Amino acid sequence: MPLNRRTLIAASLSITFALAPLTSVFAASPAPAKGEHGMVVTAQHLASEVGIDVLKKGGNAVDAAVAVGYALAVVYPNAGNIGGGGFMTIRFKDGKSTFLDFRERAPLAATKTMYLDKDGNPVKGASLDGYLAVGVPGSVAGLEMAREKYGKLSRQDLMAPAIGYARDGFILNQGDAASFAGSADRLAKDPAAAAIFLKPDGKPYGIGERLVQPDLAASLAAISEKGTDAFYKGAIADAIVKAGGAKGGILAKPDFEQYAVRELKPVTCTYRGYEITSSPPPSSGGVIICEILNVLEGYPLSYLGAGSADTVHVMVEAMRYAYVDRNSALGDPDFVDNPVSKLLDKAYARDIRDKIDPFRAGVSQDLMPKGFGESKETTHYSIIDDEGNAVAVTYTLNGSFGAGVVADGTGILLNNEMDDFTQKPGVPNLYGLVQGEANAIQPKKTPLSSMSPTVVAKDGKPFMVIGSPGGSRIITITLEAIVNVIDHGMNIQEAIDAPRIHHQWLPDKVYVEPFGLSPDTEKLLAGMGYHLDLADQTWGQAAGILVGGKSLAEIEKGGGARYNGAIDSRAASGEALGY
Ligand code: GLY
Repeated sequence: MPLNRRTLIAASLSITFALAPLTSVFAASPAPAKGEHGMVVTAQHLASEVGIDVLKKGGNAVDAAVAVGYALAVVYPNAGNIGGGGFMTIRFKDGKSTFLDFRERAPLAATKTMYLDKDGNPVKGASLDGYLAVGVPGSVAGLEMAREKYGKLSRQDLMAPAIGYARDGFILNQGDAASFAGSADRLAKDPAAAAIFLKPDGKPYGIGERLVQPDLAASLAAISEKGTDAFYKGAIADAIVKAGGAKGGILAKPDFEQYAVRELKPVTCTYRGYEITSSPPPSSGGVIICEILNVLEGYPLSYLGAGSADTVHVMVEAMRYAYVDRNSALGDPDFVDNPVSKLLDKAYARDIRDKIDPFRAGVSQDLMPKGFGESKETTHYSIIDDEGNAVAVTYTLNGSFGAGVVADGTGILLNNEMDDFTQKPGVPNLYGLVQGEANAIQPKKTPLSSMSPTVVAKDGKPFMVIGSPGGSRIITITLEAIVNVIDHGMNIQEAIDAPRIHHQWLPDKVYVEPFGLSPDTEKLLAGMGYHLDLADQTWGQAAGILVGGKSLAEIEKGGGARYNGAIDSRAASGEALGY
């Protein structure tokens, strides 16, 4: 490793650099989609078409986000949903922003120890499979609040495409079919889910076959006609409560009747002059992205280069410190006093930089707080309209196809979001996250999330819309896309496609996507004390938009397309569509 780079890292602990990139980055990626009036990027091509049609018909970005939310519930059932929950970050054309939290809440009958056996140990699968894993769903209330408050079109107009795809069916492509094949065994365990998502011979639907969901069409039609009451106060809630009661669940009618969306102030911070707007608690996403960016701001990433051992070193150390805070200090703001201002303080970031050894890997166990003991199955979409309203939505069932259960007659897959709570301090959840008391289960509490729907602005104008699924890795996926554009000069597609690294404090490993680092970089990092986990599969499915050009260089030159969209090349059925 050249000495001058080492010296730069060491020196950057006390000063901020403004250096030109050492080298340009030329990643191999298709060209981003272009649009002059609007852009919709989702993980399923039919849902992208639904969104772009809404924009063409005069709907705004919120209208398109609502229509896409319902459409994905039909054509992307492993993560799109009305039986789960999520977050919507909106940056309006006038620069104001807001955040809708329609994530699941714990049932009123939930208890802190509900997933532990008599000896106090977690019961395997209890927070993941079946009705006990289900949190009170929020998607219908959230999408409807967004439409009523900030949309222009009628609920019937926005829900019609989803109802059509459920009633008449849609033809599966390779990406769609792969998601069914991967979850066939799980879906087979619930007769109502199997009746919808598996063929009469018990096999999953394949490429070119049509999936029809008449019960879901009827549920969507009832919501379209009667609004949220059809879900929270009517036959749908009754059916879910009844099915859960018969199969070990604790959801009751008051859980549905008392569900309320929270409209919250988004988290904001600056990074090298860009304004980041992202998810506040009950998500950890925005806070932790900002904390990591604040630490990275003191290092000359653009000079150190994309994928270099030095860049990976400082990124991993920033992630390590930030995930300690994520896993120990954050929780639902109605229950926990989140230290957001401290975590977002640039002085706090400077203190973290002071602790990072420029030459050696940190040790996670040394950062253990006192008293402390992947999914790819969420989905994110990004939308911008002709007026410049930008909407980022991440919503989820948690695991693929959620809890794997459907209440008879509803066609609605239910989430297993309860697994995002701390089952027991110190015991890892589905994503290997080792969490603490701040995220303990309490009735009506929302589990801490990593979902990070984010809008970046520059000089008061929208610059980037970005987010991803990926469980605990959502934060680092979103962060890396931002850094790849701002520091490494990649275009939006390259920034999303570039190989990823991830560290989350515990386990103390650097996860690396296949071919993410060269063998000599791996050796350099191992020599610094890092434990690399060279993954055999990729993670995440980011969906992003860049405004004014496909890359910073094109934006600076002028003349680029107004909107540039990119769906992750890892998302087999997704599409970026502009017009
Ligand atoms: N269920 C994944 C998350 O919310 O972070």
